[in-house]
Formats: sequence, structure tokens, C-alpha cells
Amino acid sequence: MRSTRLALIAAGMGLTLAMSACGANSDNSSSGSDSGDTDSASGGIPVGVILPETATSARWEGFDKPMLEAALKAEGLDPHIENAQGDVQKFSTLADGMINDGVKVLIIASINSELGGTVAQKANAQGIPTIDYDRLNLGGSSEYYVSFDNVKVGELQGQGLADALKDKPNGQQVIEIEGAPTDNNATLFYNGQQNILKPLYSSGKLKLVQSQPIDDWDNQKGGTTFENILTSNGTKVDGVVAANDGLAGAIITVLKKYQLNGKVPVTGQDATADGLKAILSGDQYMTVFKPIKQEAEATAKLAAALAKGASGKAEADKVATATSDDPVGKRQVKSVLLEPFLITKAEVKRVIDEGYVKAEEVCTGDLKAACTQAGIS
Ligand code: BGC
Repeated sequence: MRSTRLALIAAGMGLTLAMSACGANSDNSSSGSDSGDTDSASGGIPVGVILPETATSARWEGFDKPMLEAALKAEGLDPHIENAQGDVQKFSTLADGMINDGVKVLIIASINSELGGTVAQKANAQGIPTIDYDRLNLGGSSEYYVSFDNVKVGELQGQGLADALKDKPNGQQVIEIEGAPTDNNATLFYNGQQNILKPLYSSGKLKLVQSQPIDDWDNQKGGTTFENILTSNGTKVDGVVAANDGLAGAIITVLKKYQLNGKVPVTGQDATADGLKAILSGDQYMTVFKPIKQEAEATAKLAAALAKGASGKAEADKVATATSDDPVGKRQVKSVLLEPFLITKAEVKRVIDEGYVKAEEVCTGDLKAACTQAGIS
């Protein structure tokens, strides 16, 4: 029964993988020495992965899914990857299904801490170890967490904006559009940004107009919220903190409407194809590149160790040498925290050279000249 259902999921995944291999963002080729083997039912220890959504960032389906698939397979595991599409009910149902089907490890990229914590608890109660992936579930029970140094991500965003405005006179007006208040990462990004921006607000170099978190990282809501703040401020803005490329895109659409795009630096995150295009066109000042292949590979190593049961514990502890603070659960969670990188126009080439985004995806139409100038061919 179990293996039949897993085989069915696996067959569906094979199809998805085959389709994504034709898609623009696919990176299977670079990491999958076994990329020809889409028959994940043929062997390996079953491991479940639940991703949170697709609409908040192109990363989840474009980078995380194919990279986790390749990394888990490379560790000899049999990945079953699903996306909850932002639906908390669906997330729980997917988790229940994977637990019932007997996955040996469950990797959770949750929609919010409460949900992720509940899912982890259910899995742990069945003796299934869990790994919090990218987002730490505050008050949760996963013993391991893999992510980037998210305070550093925020610092890079703050630094990007500070650099862009450094030659301008005092009093530059800044609007901050932040991520979901229920995502611990959004808090860490904000804290990192403030490490850089707070002294500049205090000195009068910058002036904060308003800082607004956006529920569910909803890009559209981010755009309308930004427009409301902008118009309430007499359409005056000199710089925008956008917590990721999706929000940045929505904000740039509004800036275009007021003929302010290209004049007002906007930050971002995730180094998505759209983000990189906006940087090349001059509409976005920077993004943060998080090499997700490293995140996927560290997660796969941990999963392979944990799948061995008690005997793999020491091996897992060798991988997760950092710790993350969970202020709600009042505990330190064993972690892998990877390094993020600041990308301005001059560094866009790096993301392309590393295979995350293809040159053809960004060097379209009137961006061809900008690509040549940035050394991208
Ligand atoms: C991730 C970001 C992503 C955001 C929205 C965060 O938890 O770390 O990379 O842009 O969620 O999906």
C-alpha cells in the first residue's frame, strides 16, 4: 500500500522533473549526475519535502525544488517533493500523507511557524526526524535547521540602499516594505537592515517614511501598500527597502506609474530572473544571491544522516555546526547557516555563471546592450 502510493507520487514527480527540465529556471543538469534517473521509485530511502508556495518568490519552484531533488537523489535518497501553494490546510494534508506513507525524514519549508511546528510535532511523534528548511519554526521541535545567515541578508539590503544614496544630501526619504510577520526570516531580514539603516536614520542622512510588513509576502499587496504610502507622502520617495525580488517587482510597477523607476533605488532578494532583469535595466539597485544549491546539498546530507536513525546522529551534528536562536521555544537549534551575497549590476554575471539563471532569460530585447556591458554573453 505504502510503496504503491509513494510510487504514484514518484511517477508524478518524474513527469514534473521532465517538464521542469525544459523550463527556463531548471538547473538539474549542473547538479544531477544521476539526472537521467527520474524513476525515484526504483530505490532509496523515502524522504518528504513540503515547500510553502510559489507566488511569493520564484525561488521555491525555480531553484529549491530541482536542487533539492538532485541533492537528495545524489545522497541515495528517494525524494517526494510537494508544494502547498500557500494553503495551510493543503500543507497539513500533504504532511499527513507523507507521514502515513512512511517517509524516513520530513523536510519542512513552512508557511508559518505555528503550522510548521505542528507538522514537525506530528512527524516526531511517529519517530520521523524533521529538518526546518529555510524558515525556522519558532516554538517548533525540529532538531535541525538549514538556511542562510538571514541577518546578513538584511544587512546586505541595508548596505545596498546606503551605498546607493551615499552621495545624496541628508534627509533622503525611505519606505520599507517587509516580508510576512509570521515568517521568522522576515524578522531577521528587518533586524539586519536596521543594523545598517538605524544609525543613518539617527544621523539624519536618511528619513524613514514608513515601514510596513506584508502578510504572506503577498507581492500584489506589497505594491498597493507601497502606493498608498507613496501617495500619502505626496509621491515623494528617495529609496525603497523591498524584502525580496517579488515585492521589488510590484513596487517598481508602481514607481513606473509615477515615472520614478530608475531614479529611486530599490533593494531585493533571491536573484530571480525578473530581479536580475530589473537590475540590468536600472529599475532595481540590488538583490541578494543565496546559493540555494548549497542549502539543498546541506539539507540532503543531514537527511541522509538522520535517515540512518540513532547511528546517524553524530554525522548530522558534524554537518550542523552553527546554532539558531528560537526565542519562542527558548532553545538553540542546530543549524547550517550559509553565506548570502550582494548583487548589483556588476555582479549579475556571477548568478548566471553559477547556472542559477540563464543568459537567454535575462538578455532579452533592449537588455541586450546592458548584458554586453555587464560581461554577460
Ligand atoms: C525566504 C526568501 C523568500 C521569502 C518569500 C523567505 O522565508 O528566505 O528567500 O523570498 O521567504 O518567499
